[in-house]
Amino acid sequence: MKIFETKKYIENMLDSKNLDIAIVLGSGLSFLEDNMENLKQVKTSDMPGYPVSTVMGHKGMISTGIYAGKKLMIMAGRVHYYEGYSYEEAVFPIDILKALGVKKLLLTNAAGGINRSYGPGSILVLEKYIAPFSSKYKKVLPEPYSKELNSLLEEAGRNKGIEVHKGCYAYMTGPSFETKAEIDFLRLSGADAVGMSTVPETVRAVGYGMDIACISRVSNPAAGITGKPLSHVEVLDTAKRSQESFIELLKEFIKLI
Ligand code: HPA
Repeated sequence: MKIFETKKYIENMLDSKNLDIAIVLGSGLSFLEDNMENLKQVKTSDMPGYPVSTVMGHKGMISTGIYAGKKLMIMAGRVHYYEGYSYEEAVFPIDILKALGVKKLLLTNAAGGINRSYGPGSILVLEKYIAPFSSKYKKVLPEPYSKELNSLLEEAGRNKGIEVHKGCYAYMTGPSFETKAEIDFLRLSGADAVGMSTVPETVRAVGYGMDIACISRVSNPAAGITGKPLSHVEVLDTAKRSQESFIELLKEFIKLI
């Protein structure tokens, strides 16, 4: 029932028919809500049935509009398992997108850089993920990310002269940041970046047959790399400071889809 009510609310308040793509924004990331034509927005806290994000930097807003002739939905208001939500609640936004008939999905997140070549501000297009400490989310998905969308993201990077790395994301449930030993373990396992989101949504969306891609933006060196303690404020600071290339990449990608 929850889904039905939320879907009806969105259909009344936003322009959610025949969306070309939905984009889920991570911590402190914003996109072109200001540059979209026909912009319509709702606060997730006003939506019936929608879980409320408690994390600083997640603004809790869903927008629809047109950019470069494409109909978009931008979801800024992810909720996380580490906030105390259940798996079902954390993937609820994906259930809504499915109910709305969305077929293409771009997930974004802020992540800790494990690969020493990927400093703060680096952009990674995910090719694979690992979830070694959370079997609940680990489904057998040999190819979770769409090759077609990934190659469009790479093309967008080339067109705009923005460096785009391919990478492997390590999902940790949080809420605390990792220990240095855990990061060493994840690096040995082939992970390039670490974060506390996106994998549950990926599993759900792939289960629904959506084409998905995911961009990680490195917001901080992962634990133990610099010897300094990590903080959520640092994550938000980097997200804010070097957003331009991320936004340029997304704009170009939308033109290409
Ligand atoms: N670890 C886990 N999650 C994160 C990090 C990190 O270093 N940075 C942003 N999200």
